[in-house]
Amino acid sequence: MRIGVPGTGHIGKTLVRKLSAAGHDVRAANSRGPDTIEADVLAFGGRAVTAAEAVADVDVVILSIPLNRLPEIAPLIAGVPAETVVIDTSNYYPQRDGRIDALEAGQVESLWVAEQLRRPIVKAWNAIGSDSFARKGKLAGSPDRIAIPVAADRETDRGVGMALVEDTGFDAFDAGTLADSWRQQPGTPGYCTDITREEMAAALAAADAARSPKRRDLAIAAVMERMSGSGKTNPDAEYGVRLNRALFM
Ligand SMILES: NC(=O)c1ccc[n+]([C@@H]2O[C@H](COP(=O)([O-])OP(=O)(O)OC[C@H]3O[C@@H](n4cnc5c(N)ncnc54)[C@H](OP(=O)(O)O)[C@@H]3O)[C@@H](O)[C@H]2O)c1
Repeated sequence: MRIGVPGTGHIGKTLVRKLSAAGHDVRAANSRGPDTIEADVLAFGGRAVTAAEAVADVDVVILSIPLNRLPEIAPLIAGVPAETVVIDTSNYYPQRDGRIDALEAGQVESLWVAEQLRRPIVKAWNAIGSDSFARKGKLAGSPDRIAIPVAADRETDRGVGMALVEDTGFDAFDAGTLADSWRQQPGTPGYCTDITREEMAAALAAADAARSPKRRDLAIAAVMERMSGSGKTNPDAEYGVRLNRALFM
């Protein structure tokens, strides 16, 4: 498939690497321009382009930018044909994104994103930490392959989203509609806890809408304390998964 990936940070760079390695024609963009995209992002054949080029003439757009930057990319997405599959990896972290009243009031994050972009989206790869995503992919059928939940309202979107998740080395789990996707948001049992397909249904069912934002904020506080002075913003999988399992499950 022809895939455009605006956002080549912690998650986007691994998306470009894995989807290129899987044989897709991938275009990678950031906010500063193609010259600033690092060579390792393109190691398996991805091409560096502008954000406008990344969303033009593609079958799939995967947005991997901070949630609070999505409104700024909405004018570009307005030109994307309705049938193109638009996948979003974002999560709401008020510490990073600033306070967004609708989300604080409980609006489902993916529905807020769909509203900003004025189109249907797929929610995928939001519930895997960047280090697990880069290092823990396995071939289909491998024991203990980690599952990633995928939510969408259109069946074609869901099918494409799930197939691409599989191409990145993880079991795609059908997590239902966007309205249901609060169950895969930060602070829930299936969020960045590296569980399998067999464990995912119970994890999604056990999600608690009222408690997950509190648990998200506890995790962020612990990560920020741990990282202080390290120059890093994302924990490694060993610490991040251990912490999330203790707090979210
Ligand atoms: N980090 C994780 O473990 C993780 C896991 C799952 C999901 N997520 C979610 O995925 C999203 C991306 O997270 P991340 O950690 O990968 O972020 P990140 O490391 O901060 O990278 C963000 C990327 O978005 C680009 N960007 C920002 N605004 C843009 C725009 N208007 N047009 C094109 N590119 C733009 C940035 O480009 P510049 O560098 O040029 O500014 C950068 O490449 C977030 O919503 C996050 O919550 C993160």
